[in-house]
Amino acid sequence: MRTPMVAGNWKLNGSRQSAVALAGEVAATEVAGVDVVVCPVSLHLGDVSQALKGSSVLLGAQNACAEEQGAFTGEVSSTMLAEFGCQYVIIGHSERRSLFGDSNESCAARHKAVVAAGLTPIFCVGETLDDREAGNTMAVVESQLQAAFDACGDNAFASAVIAYEPVWAIGTGKTATPEQAQEVHAELRQFIAARDQQTASAVRILYGGSVNPGNAAELIGKPDIDGGLIGGAALKSADFLAICQAAAAQA
Ligand code: PGA
Repeated sequence: MRTPMVAGNWKLNGSRQSAVALAGEVAATEVAGVDVVVCPVSLHLGDVSQALKGSSVLLGAQNACAEEQGAFTGEVSSTMLAEFGCQYVIIGHSERRSLFGDSNESCAARHKAVVAAGLTPIFCVGETLDDREAGNTMAVVESQLQAAFDACGDNAFASAVIAYEPVWAIGTGKTATPEQAQEVHAELRQFIAARDQQTASAVRILYGGSVNPGNAAELIGKPDIDGGLIGGAALKSADFLAICQAAAAQA
């Protein structure tokens, strides 16, 4: 059985004060049977980590450098993130790919560095609307996974989480239907099974893209959807917790 996971990607939002407040609100409600993760901006990790103390809510970062240290201005390494209590790192979010030039290869290198530091990547894949309309969804998402296999070998996802986030659904209010999402999740699992059967059954594949309290249960109720990566709705504790509860009901 895969334990459901709900991860909040807070993106570039909040202040020190509001991040601590939001973390405190999330930490105040224990949701049994679900791994709940929050991913604030890196600068807020220390404060948020303190706010989560004593709760079961886990801490994640939104990105990590592929390098450990050296002349890489503006970057943060996985080891540095671990020092702040981070256990998860989002890798290859579509905003990183489209706005900051993260390529399949650089995402794979970051993934490798996160694993090497003992943290768990939440590795994002997803197609644009053009890709989907051209019938290229699986080719695109598989090439994103393939880059990580190329860099890390057949067990690239043995200690990872995957997030399927159709680019056209992120922050748009448009959600993939549960059937559309399930179809991709099942194919991703098969793609992994061709290299590593054990990981394919164990790896959690989260859905992301306009998940909200109204659609979470139906999405997470699908057999290959193991939780959600939540953007906008993660900024309101009541909405985020309602999604966590919906995931708990599927556990
Ligand atoms: P959204 O973002 O829930 O606001 O669509 C999801 C994400 O970017 O991870």
